[in-house]
Amino acid sequence: MIAEPPCGQSEDTTLMIKPIKPAPLPNPDGTTSHSTKPASGQVAGYPPQAGEGTNDCCANLSFLLADENATIALAQRLAARLKPGMVIYLQGDLGAGKTTLVRGMLNALGYGGRVKSPTYTLVEPYHAAGLDLRHFDLYRLRDEEEWEAAGFRDEFNGQNIFLIEWPENAQGLLPPADMEIVFEILEHGRNVKIHANTEMGKQCLEQL
Ligand SMILES: Nc1ncnc2c1ncn2[C@@H]1O[C@H](COP(=O)(O)OP(=O)(O)OP(=O)(O)O)[C@@H](O)[C@H]1O
Ligand SMILES: [Mg+2]
Repeated sequence: MIAEPPCGQSEDTTLMIKPIKPAPLPNPDGTTSHSTKPASGQVAGYPPQAGEGTNDCCANLSFLLADENATIALAQRLAARLKPGMVIYLQGDLGAGKTTLVRGMLNALGYGGRVKSPTYTLVEPYHAAGLDLRHFDLYRLRDEEEWEAAGFRDEFNGQNIFLIEWPENAQGLLPPADMEIVFEILEHGRNVKIHANTEMGKQCLEQL
């Protein structure tokens, strides 16, 4: 019997966001299975297989984003699911598309101003759709002293939404991520993997 995926996603070619179907995971005996439970460090993709426990449902998703418009389309979907207090890490090389995704989310929330990369200011605050957002780019963060002096610790008040580029530069200073969005640059487009680490993050992915 063919069951619907529990999260109800469908491939949406009009948006040019192409969810990646995972290859079957190899078993130790060389056979293959279709479990969505990833091995450590391995990302299970889309769609979740029917019959699996729902607790792990959609904890990881992958998307092939053909062009900038596809990144913006994903941003629009994410924006609609943001919740106060959410912490999102954005990872990937220089020019991978992290700021493009943030800009897409803010525009989708109705923010009409310019969204520029906070490369030198480290953070840019936004208010849109009744939400307070903080867009961090920590590429140039020097050390913990700079972090404390800037008062960034006080920003984490459980209400602000954090979209954080280069979180690896502030290890030990940041709260854990509800979601990690990892960009990989391809010859044509980007591969984006989204990991949800908390219940809030999982709920966001389940509806994506
Ligand atoms: N899916 C995509 N396919 C191809 N190009 C894309 C895609 N998404 C965004 N881009 C392009 O990638 C370029 C760099 O994007 P962006 O500035 O968002 O990168 P970034 O990850 O924030 O880099 P940095 O780490 O330097 O801040 C932009 O020119 C944008 O148009
Ligand atoms: Mg950027």
